[in-house]
Amino acid sequence: MALKVNDKYLKGFVGADELKGMEPLVKAAHETLTSKSGLGNDFLGWVTLPTDYDKDEFARIKAAAEKIKKDSEVLLVIGIGGSYLGARAAIEAIKGSLYNNVKKDTPDIYFIGNSISPTYLNQVVSLVEGKDFSVNIISKSGTTTEPALAFRVFRDMLEEKYGAEGAKSRIYATTDKARGTLKELSDEKGYETFVIPDDVGGRFSVLTAVGLLPIACAGCDIDALMNGAKAAQDELVSPEIDKNDCYKYAALRNILNRKGRSAEMLVAYEPSFAMMNEWFKQLFGESEGKDGKGLYPTSAVFSTDLHSLGQFIQDGTKMLFETVVHFGKAQQDFFLKDDPTNGDGLNFLSNQNMSVVNDKAYQGTVIAHTEGGVPNIVLEVPELNEYELGYMIYFFEKACAISGYLLGVNPFNQPGVESYKKNMFALLGKPGYEDAKAALEAKLS
Ligand code: PA5
Repeated sequence: MALKVNDKYLKGFVGADELKGMEPLVKAAHETLTSKSGLGNDFLGWVTLPTDYDKDEFARIKAAAEKIKKDSEVLLVIGIGGSYLGARAAIEAIKGSLYNNVKKDTPDIYFIGNSISPTYLNQVVSLVEGKDFSVNIISKSGTTTEPALAFRVFRDMLEEKYGAEGAKSRIYATTDKARGTLKELSDEKGYETFVIPDDVGGRFSVLTAVGLLPIACAGCDIDALMNGAKAAQDELVSPEIDKNDCYKYAALRNILNRKGRSAEMLVAYEPSFAMMNEWFKQLFGESEGKDGKGLYPTSAVFSTDLHSLGQFIQDGTKMLFETVVHFGKAQQDFFLKDDPTNGDGLNFLSNQNMSVVNDKAYQGTVIAHTEGGVPNIVLEVPELNEYELGYMIYFFEKACAISGYLLGVNPFNQPGVESYKKNMFALLGKPGYEDAKAALEAKLS
């Protein structure tokens, strides 16, 4: 059994007729996707990736991960957006948000090149000082400023520490198969390279080497991850909403959006899911948010955020709905012992597993929020392991593509991301941006 949509908490928010009314639209979106006739149809490589992936490269990924595990105390993963979020999300989901702090036989993994903060950069530099480390630089274009800048710093550090030859054997580049500065540099220096397929966009690339190499280095089972994704690829094929939970989810969120809900809050009751929330936000935000349309993706971790955002969700502006990822089983449990003195008055919680308490928090919250006027879609996931995560990743990717087509946008481009880059390059004096520089400086003065 894998991910299922539970629509029990949508009563009073979405009627059966409304879902039926979506059927022709969902079928049309399905046809657009499967016939590869829609906007962005040259970026559909992710659809068959769980079966079509390059098996030789997969074996090389595993071999590289084994080498890194043996010769490195730290792995630096350099990348931004789709070239970083999926790997970090999967590692934290499976190994926990305290992965770097717990005792383990795999390297610490730090993500860098996802901001331009000199403070963060300095901290990572000091973290690798005196340690054996390797670098996985990930950039499809091979030209993105943030990772390129960080790579320059850590490439220098590696060359200084191990010499050019030694550094070469500790640098792994994941990039385009033929184009870009990173590909050219890798060929010139002789780094081992992994490919981001042309037809897989950044935010859909976690099941390529982009995600798989760092995920394997953390000791996660990437075969199980791909098997879960394959199960989703095989199962989520019917154009009928009532036979395809992925399409049901896409239809429900579209209905709620049309009824005035402008934000979707992804919620889980596990702190280890926080980076999956970030991955989801990029996937849906970059795919749907264009042409003045799209649900604003936001997220929360409960019960943590019930003590901060809970007030707004319960009583504030009725602008959002929640999509709750509910796990049937905790990864690890903790038995709460009875205290004969009951000095803290907590014996009503004792003699049971802590997961039961967490689940009562979920049950109480879903009822409170729906009674407070906030629709809740619940995604029932048996447990948080590699297989279920692979399934969930594919589920969200496909739901996102169908959602984009339901909205009438191109789910696979991101033209809006370029605006800040142009201004930043102009202000920094990058050759070719001279005219824009003067105009921007006038605006800033
Ligand atoms: O989803 C996307 O396409 C983006 O988030 C990119 O992945 C991100 O901008 C990084 O680009 P690149 O991999 O070319 O460095």
